[in-house]
Amino acid sequence: MKIRSLVMTTICLSFLGFLSCNEEQKKGIIKAADNTVEQNIKEDHTFKQKVEIDDGRISLNLNPMQKNHQLSNMRSHLEAIQQITLLLSQENYDEASMIAYTKLGSTTEMRLMCASFGDKAFENLGLEFHKSADAMSDVFKKRNKDNSLTALSNTLNYCVQCHATYKQ
Ligand code: HEC
Repeated sequence: MKIRSLVMTTICLSFLGFLSCNEEQKKGIIKAADNTVEQNIKEDHTFKQKVEIDDGRISLNLNPMQKNHQLSNMRSHLEAIQQITLLLSQENYDEASMIAYTKLGSTTEMRLMCASFGDKAFENLGLEFHKSADAMSDVFKKRNKDNSLTALSNTLNYCVQCHATYKQ
C-alpha cells in the first residue's frame, strides 16, 4: 500500500510539474505576442512620421470631428462627379443639372461648411468652386455635350487646385 501511494504521489507531482511548465510556455508565447504588438506600434509610429513630412500644402489644423465631416463631404463630392459623368454620357441633362446644383452648388449647407474651417483663403476657394458648380448646372440645361464636359472640367479644376494647396 505504502509503495502504491508513493508511486501515485510521484506521478501526481511530475504531472503538476508538467502543468506549470506548460504555463511557463504559454507565458512565453504571450510575451512574444506582446513584443510583436509593440513592434507594430513602433513601426506605425515611424510610418506616421513619414506621412507627416511637409509636402508644401497648407494645413487647416482641423480637429478630428471637422476632419471626419470634411472627408465625408468630399466623398459625397466624388460620388456626385461620378453620377454627373454617367448622366452626361446618357444625355440625361436635367438630372445632371439637378445633381450639379444640389450636391456641388452654392447651397446654404455648402457655404456654411466652407466658412466653418476658419481659413479665409480656403473659404474663398471653396465658394468659387461652388459657384463653378452653379454655372455647370446652368450649362447642362442647354443640352450641349461638349460645353457640358468643358463645364465639368472647369469645376474639377477647383478640386485639383484646392487639393494641391490644402490638407487637413
Ligand atoms: C476648397 C478646397 C477643396 C475643394 C474645392 C475640394 N476638396 Fe476634396 N479635399 C479637400 C481637403 C483639404 C481634403 C483633405 C486632404 C488631406 O488632408 O490630405 C480633401 C479630401 C478629399 C477626398 C478624400 C476623402 C477621404 O475620405 O479620404 C476626396 C475623395 C475629395 N477630397 C474629393 C473632392 C472632389 C471630387 C472635389 C471636386 C468636385 C473636391 N474634393 C473639391 C479640399 C477640397
